[in-house]
Amino acid sequence: MNQSVWTRVLVSSAIGLATLSVGPPASAQVNPGLMVDTFERAGGKFEGFRRSGAKGVCASAEFVGSADGRALSVASAFSGKPVPVIARFSIGGGNPKAPDNARSQRNLALQFDLPGGETWQMGNISAPLFGAANPQQMLGRLTSLVPDPQTRKPDADQVKAFADANPEVLLQGKYFASQPVPASFGAVNYWGVHGFYFVDAAGKKQVGKWIFEPVGGTQTLTDDEAKAKGTDFLIDDLRQRVAAGGVAFDFNLQLAQPGDRIDSAVTPLPADRKKVTLGRLTIKAVSPDATGACVSITFNPMVLPKGVEPSDDPMLAARAAPYAVSLGRRLVEGARQ
Ligand code: HEM
Repeated sequence: MNQSVWTRVLVSSAIGLATLSVGPPASAQVNPGLMVDTFERAGGKFEGFRRSGAKGVCASAEFVGSADGRALSVASAFSGKPVPVIARFSIGGGNPKAPDNARSQRNLALQFDLPGGETWQMGNISAPLFGAANPQQMLGRLTSLVPDPQTRKPDADQVKAFADANPEVLLQGKYFASQPVPASFGAVNYWGVHGFYFVDAAGKKQVGKWIFEPVGGTQTLTDDEAKAKGTDFLIDDLRQRVAAGGVAFDFNLQLAQPGDRIDSAVTPLPADRKKVTLGRLTIKAVSPDATGACVSITFNPMVLPKGVEPSDDPMLAARAAPYAVSLGRRLVEGARQ
């Protein structure tokens, strides 16, 4: 094929991609296998476990949407009828023995099982922002953290050079360092981090970012209390709280205003933006062991119901493929947690 024919092929492929509108342009994506390999090289490889959010537990929950939710979106999740939800609580990172008493990330992943076989998946974190602005930056950060084979530690100069050139990668760590250790999986806020559009019956769109806020309020530990709790208390604490009927979250949407940045996972909305409660999520049961419906699924945040649409945040669409790769690897190895 001569050069002009190639040019036409490339241009028509690019137009095809744009028309399909399945996510960011291919140039914004990173090879998902390389991304997951780099998670494993930077944090260790633990067969059968999720390559991120490895230490966790399955739970079942129920969501009841509110009239405010119905006004903002036609999504059937907001009908007001109880919707069954598969939930998973976890600690950030790929280490299945990550300590529960560190100033680090907690996760709440959800799959709403909606009428007609529709599903809505999401993975929310205990910080209002993520640790990278785009997938290339995430890959670069992880690469800088890969341990040197000799010293078994990351090269400090390399880590510093990357962070100096990409200061966004330090913002989330600063946030966690500023926060006390959460007392419970059931008593911490979980942010969606990305912007999403909520579409009403007339087609009107409202963009915002969501937060799951514990109905009983947040609870934290002093450094001494956290030390005394040890490295494994969160899952049993959750089982006890849920058995006592005490874990529920309000699903709140912070409404963006014109001019707000909604396509960036490292830029939270201003704290004073109006919040609307879309409904309430009640945790009904926690798995008594390491099994459950969450083990063999992934929570792909691009799986959205009719009435909720993704923003252009490059980190959002970039999650789908590495999650599928991680799921595939752990299913072949024997999925566990
Ligand atoms: C390109 C960017 C990202 C990559 C490559 C990535 C990668 C991964 C991978 C491989 C998993 C394990 C999936 C599985 O085995 O099922 C995972 C889990 C998770 N990620 Fe990400 N992630 C990215 C961005 C984000 C962002 C921006 C958030 C913030 C909301 C986030 C939140 C989570 C949560 C909450 C989980 C645990 C979900 C569960 O319990 O299954 N990730 N991520």
